[in-house]
Amino acid sequence: MNTAYENASLRRPRPELLEPTHTAGRGNALDSVMSRMPSFNTVSVATDCAKHGKQRWQVTEAVANTGNVQCQKCQWEHDAQQEQLQYLKGSLLASLDIPSEHINADFSQWTVGGDDQTRARIAKIINFAKHYAANYRKGHANILLTGNTGTGKTKLACLIVNEIVRQRYYAQMTVAFKRSGQIQHEIKATWDKTSSDSAATYIERLSRSTALIIDEVGEGDTSAVDKWADKDREQLSAIIDRRYQLRLPTIITTNMTEKEFYDHMGDRASDRLRQNIVQIPCVWPSYRVLTGRVRTL
Ligand SMILES: Nc1ncnc2c1ncn2[C@@H]1O[C@H](COP(=O)(O)OP(=O)(O)OP(=O)(O)O)[C@@H](O)[C@H]1O
Ligand SMILES: [Mg+2]
Ligand SMILES: [Zn+2]
Repeated sequence: MNTAYENASLRRPRPELLEPTHTAGRGNALDSVMSRMPSFNTVSVATDCAKHGKQRWQVTEAVANTGNVQCQKCQWEHDAQQEQLQYLKGSLLASLDIPSEHINADFSQWTVGGDDQTRARIAKIINFAKHYAANYRKGHANILLTGNTGTGKTKLACLIVNEIVRQRYYAQMTVAFKRSGQIQHEIKATWDKTSSDSAATYIERLSRSTALIIDEVGEGDTSAVDKWADKDREQLSAIIDRRYQLRLPTIITTNMTEKEFYDHMGDRASDRLRQNIVQIPCVWPSYRVLTGRVRTL
């Protein structure tokens, strides 16, 4: 883009149009204010952009002096696009399929408690989580959050994904939050003749989510009959396998230990996950118990 300047001294507006007329008695004070104000004289600047061709713009001398006047039409288009992106990002954050208490939540809603050692460890985890979200991309690590009930695994997973949307948003971004049992349930629903989805398209769509949380793996997510339970795990494994091919990370929470989880998932999915995974054992007291009010009457 070329920027050419033209001698604007002849085109400058007459001074009386730029400067306010003096009011009797206040002239001196106004003079001193005006003398400290930056110059608002404008000059005409030419730009030549590949898209909009040659254009002329009236800009202040200060702007012209930067020597970097861009095509304003490009700038307007860029601003409109940014505004549209902000809008889409806002609606994605507001519509995320995550528990309502976590919609739009951020790390400021995470309370750090416990003894010094626990606090230091949690601070390290939160630092990692922020860094992970800020740098989220294809090929990024999977995350496995393990630990007892109420320790904030689901909350932490949701905070990370909210932060990914805030920091890494682009117009085609899609985010999914699914309890593991819900995935099995929704796959079974595709078997119904009236369903517009097939199991394969459902799995493909879910697998392609930019960010995916699979919550509560092992929690009522497999059928009681062994044959069906194997089928259920196969489907979960298929999603992990597909995301592995697409180099898309998965964030998983479970009450199982790491070993139990990998045994549950089987070698195929576990190997793929473990190729690049950050394991976060949430071994601190349950937040529900710490803050709960239990009364026995
Ligand atoms: N560090 C924390 N700061 C503030 N709130 C928290 C924290 N940890 C957990 N909570 C809150 O405690 C409740 C339980 O957290 P959460 O559901 O994330 O636990 P969980 O580990 O997923 O439990 P479960 O294994 O039963 O699913 C939620 O209401 C959550 O917002
Ligand atoms: Mg949970
Ligand atoms: Zn332009």
